[in-house]
Amino acid sequence: MIQAINSRKSIRNYKDASLSPEDLQKIKNIIKNATPLFSHIPMESFLIEDGEKIHATFKGLMAKYTKVESPHYLAFTSEIAEGHLENIGFIGEDIVLKLTQLGIGTCWLGSAIKQELFKTIVKVQDKQSYIILIALGYPTEQLKLVESRKRLDKSKVINGTYENQYEPIIQAFIDAPSAVNSQPWKLSINNNKFDLYLENRNMLTKKMLKDMNRIDMGIGLNHLYNSAIELGYNVELKQAPHNELGNSLYIISAILNKG
Ligand SMILES: Cc1cc2nc3c(=O)[nH]c(=O)nc-3n(C[C@H](O)[C@H](O)[C@H](O)COP(=O)(O)O)c2cc1C
Repeated sequence: MIQAINSRKSIRNYKDASLSPEDLQKIKNIIKNATPLFSHIPMESFLIEDGEKIHATFKGLMAKYTKVESPHYLAFTSEIAEGHLENIGFIGEDIVLKLTQLGIGTCWLGSAIKQELFKTIVKVQDKQSYIILIALGYPTEQLKLVESRKRLDKSKVINGTYENQYEPIIQAFIDAPSAVNSQPWKLSINNNKFDLYLENRNMLTKKMLKDMNRIDMGIGLNHLYNSAIELGYNVELKQAPHNELGNSLYIISAILNKG
């Protein structure tokens, strides 16, 4: 997954062609086997093969940013419960990284489709609501190692010192995508314990990105989790005793062990 993390970037230009039936089948299997953060929260992932159905929902939207056109989309629905947005971020990014391994381009899309309209596209389970989309398809330019990214300096994101062995995991975390690149996260590291916090850096975006930033937390955590697993750590994700960190909101801890 680290290679996928290094070559993933948000793709906004897609070939005007459907994915092959083989790739569509692979995606269905990837969706079925994606790792949840909170398996007790009912949710569903949909592969929407006919992208036109989603393009039609873009008509009423003002912001060009939210109208990325691709041949197919993934859509997520969930029951609303404590942690449901972090759960969707975690599962969605697990799928994004596995699609990256297949050379398929993706872009998270915080498109605000009305619930009633979304229900005309797929069958939404009774207690669930539409959460978010991911655009996908073959990119016009092949995916390759991303040399540089616009990201906050590590010193703004990481609290505490850490051993060199964790450097690739920190880098994977830093490289995670977030809504309008807001990077609303902070990691406080104490030996092998990584406490994840939500930090709103901008009062304006705080309100606008409220739900999106919860999804971002799950996405960042997934990069941390998948890179640590690949490097041979057992990763325990749980609520644990933690310190206050200014105005930041504690989300969850990752505890890494080897052997
Ligand atoms: C929750 C979420 C929502 C996003 N919504 C949009 C969107 O509506 N339109 C868009 O073009 N990109 C969207 N993005 C992509 C971000 O702009 C992108 O991840 C960020 O700028 C970092 O760039 P990178 O993904 O290429 O590393 C979204 C990303 C996340 C995580």
